[in-house]
Amino acid sequence: MTRNSDRSLSTKAGVGLRLPHLAEVVATRPPAAWFEIHPENFLANPHASELLLDLARDYPISVHTVGVSIGSAGGIDRAHLKRVRALIDRVDPVLISGHLAWSTHAGEYLNDLLPLPYDEETLRLVSRHIDEVQDYLGRAYLVENPSSYVGFGASIMTEVQFLSELVDRSGCRLLCDVSNIHLSAHNMGFDPYRYIDGLPAAAIGELHLGGFTAEDDEGNPGSALLVDTHAARIAEPAWKLHAHALRRFGPKPTMIEWDNDIPPFATIMAEAATADAALTLDIHHAVA
Ligand SMILES: [Fe+2]
Repeated sequence: MTRNSDRSLSTKAGVGLRLPHLAEVVATRPPAAWFEIHPENFLANPHASELLLDLARDYPISVHTVGVSIGSAGGIDRAHLKRVRALIDRVDPVLISGHLAWSTHAGEYLNDLLPLPYDEETLRLVSRHIDEVQDYLGRAYLVENPSSYVGFGASIMTEVQFLSELVDRSGCRLLCDVSNIHLSAHNMGFDPYRYIDGLPAAAIGELHLGGFTAEDDEGNPGSALLVDTHAARIAEPAWKLHAHALRRFGPKPTMIEWDNDIPPFATIMAEAATADAALTLDIHHAVA
């Protein structure tokens, strides 16, 4: 099967493009290296789609799906996948990705990214769904590690082992969300550096960095739960983990995610510039 996996984003930082900034970005053509979009924001919005196509002529685009739901026991929603493919055929993105999660059940979209037990049954289910998505889209799919708040007693392997098995079985690649690793490690009590060291480096196609929020942990009074809100600047521990990821994986395109309490576009560009500085440093290390 032919999959368009040879193309890659430049190893510069990209920016998550959300609808409140779309008209400004189209008008001002900021010096962003690339943009990542959620196709679900554009499927029922013809005007926004036309603006996106205009941008796609000048910028590489990465498509990050939030409604494909590769973890749903009830199967992939073919009608949704068809709509996503129609947009992809027009935008011709460089990468296509989505979460290791489920978000639909019995035809209902739950507007959340829900966790999965890491066991053999789930591996078979998710691998089959990734095969289906990759075959239908004709491209490799990047699977993103989730943010975690609770574990499953039924899990018999770690998330790193589960993701590595998915890569081996389906030929998918990975989108490594560095902030998710940081906050999951805090919430679940594991070492985020060992997590990154265990991932299959050759499969990593993109990194994410997003802001998170500390909230009271109702199940554990006196301690905080880190919640993946994408509503703040990138915190220092996540930048440090990003630097470690770049040392481990080499320079990888890194995207700044900001989805709530959206600031002026220049604020997100400033975060991208910080990521670019780390990437440039890493490239210099690699050639030294
Ligand atoms: Fe992410």
